[in-house]
Amino acid sequence: PIVRELLGLSDLEEKLRERFSLRQVIIVPGDCDQSELAKKELGRAGATALRKYATKDDVVAVAGGSTLAEVADHLTPSVQMKGNVFVPARGGLGESVELQANSIASTMAKKAGGQYRLLHVPDHLGEEAYVSLMQDPNILEVVEVIRGARIVVHGIGDAMVMARRRKVDRLTIDELLGEGALAEAFGYYFDRDGKVVHKMPTVGLRLEDIQSTEVVIAVAGGKSKGEAIAAVMKFGHEDVLVTDEAAAAELIRFI
Ligand code: BG6
Repeated sequence: PIVRELLGLSDLEEKLRERFSLRQVIIVPGDCDQSELAKKELGRAGATALRKYATKDDVVAVAGGSTLAEVADHLTPSVQMKGNVFVPARGGLGESVELQANSIASTMAKKAGGQYRLLHVPDHLGEEAYVSLMQDPNILEVVEVIRGARIVVHGIGDAMVMARRRKVDRLTIDELLGEGALAEAFGYYFDRDGKVVHKMPTVGLRLEDIQSTEVVIAVAGGKSKGEAIAAVMKFGHEDVLVTDEAAAAELIRFI
């Protein structure tokens, strides 16, 4: 707590909370871009936030990514998380296995002592494949569980970093650039004003589901993500932001 006061983190948390009308902002010291330890601390803080907002028998929809992997790593069993069901927020988005939402959901369930349901949907779905997948009763059943999630936990990425990591084709990259895509979260791309300008075609959470989710928790840090985090906060449907000092210092420049 003394370190937090000296660094002025509590003031910054309050400033950001007010500006983006959030329920809570948590800032951990350091810069995730520079330090593994800072990223672990971010993951720990994310896990603490999830425990705080979880109630018994919740459905928790989780996104993928290296930050969410750290959150999963730091979850521990708790009374309020008992009976929770962890599901991936959306189907395949082109991530490597360790970073996929399915993997994160199963790790979280194991760590928290809950259940999980997986969504086996291939990446880069075409319109036709989407329509026929949505007629499969097993897929449909999991998708309905996902869409009824009470809590969503997700990371935030820089649009171009995420597009490249997911090996998006050149044409789509050009489209994204033309649309002014700056940030990415759960397969949706946002411009600097927080407007959704592009979606990756897959099943799972839709924007309207996120808008009606009771608790949306974003966990993202590192100086390089400051502007992207600002964009997703401007989208306006987040409740809790868990970030680090370096991202927060950037973020404050974009408010
Ligand atoms: C993805 C999430 O898997 O991870 C996105 O779906 C997010 O919401 C991204 O943009 C962030 O990844 P990382 O590795 O920077 O935490």
